[in-house]
Amino acid sequence: MTSTPPAAENLATHRLHGRAALVTGASHGIGRATALLLALEGAVVVATGRDERALASLATEARRGGGVVHPHRADLTDGDERARLADIARRATGRVSILVHSAGVHRSDPLAYASLARFDEQFAVNVHAPYALTQRLLPELTAACGDIVFINSTQGISASAGVSQYAATKHALRAVADALRAEAAGTGVRVSTIFPGRTATPMQEQIFRNEGRQWNPDLLVQPHDIASLVVTAVALPARAELSEVVIRPACKL
Ligand SMILES: NC(=O)c1ccc[n+]([C@@H]2O[C@H](COP(=O)([O-])OP(=O)(O)OC[C@H]3O[C@@H](n4cnc5c(N)ncnc54)[C@H](OP(=O)(O)O)[C@@H]3O)[C@@H](O)[C@H]2O)c1
Repeated sequence: MTSTPPAAENLATHRLHGRAALVTGASHGIGRATALLLALEGAVVVATGRDERALASLATEARRGGGVVHPHRADLTDGDERARLADIARRATGRVSILVHSAGVHRSDPLAYASLARFDEQFAVNVHAPYALTQRLLPELTAACGDIVFINSTQGISASAGVSQYAATKHALRAVADALRAEAAGTGVRVSTIFPGRTATPMQEQIFRNEGRQWNPDLLVQPHDIASLVVTAVALPARAELSEVVIRPACKL
């Protein structure tokens, strides 16, 4: 599966020239597609994840399309690594004006016996890390009248059976974004939340496997579809904010 249709670089209009982005979860899936499209649209991108090889391949693909991606490995559950990441992003770009939170983990089990350690793990990656990283970068994002984009989930709107923990983290993430949007009103900072349904990524492939379903990525939202929404949000004129958007597969699954 490729995260970007082959023609993406030809479609790029360099709308984001002069901007700098930090994208988490950029080694795979939605974050990767988003980092790539932001770079092809002209932003200088710092791409982070834990899989260094995947980050290096993203940087190479961006370079081939004329974009700039600086890969940086970080475990977002580690406070020191988050601090280093913020410093490196600042040094590599001058000033981050787009922060995209795509890193996430998904575990499913009925509440009756779901592991509490797994709950903590999901909360650490899905809520604590984006909260803390936003807090660290907020002064420069404010100075830049920047954009903060949270990749949430339809599970952050309405929870299904078997995902009480994941859905709770995504509801919490929505609350973080909503409160931040209210606090940032009038400062020039825009806060967007995207709520994807099933999207063809490694995470979703694992979910299909757990559900015993045949993996059929063509029926799902594609990572590039989400990336396009992110670019649309951050490229809007300063007068407009794309606050929330839901995107789901159009086909019945
Ligand atoms: N796919 C879907 O159907 C779907 C639907 C709704 C919402 N979402 C949300 O969309 C976001 C992206 O999901 P995806 O489907 O693209 O997932 P994915 O393919 O599994 O990618 C997840 C990314 O998160 C990173 N990550 C996980 N734990 C990390 C940690 N401790 N430190 C640093 N990075 C970490 C991974 O990096 P490494 O692999 O390098 O560690 C990877 O780049 C998530 O927030 C997810 O909840 C996905």
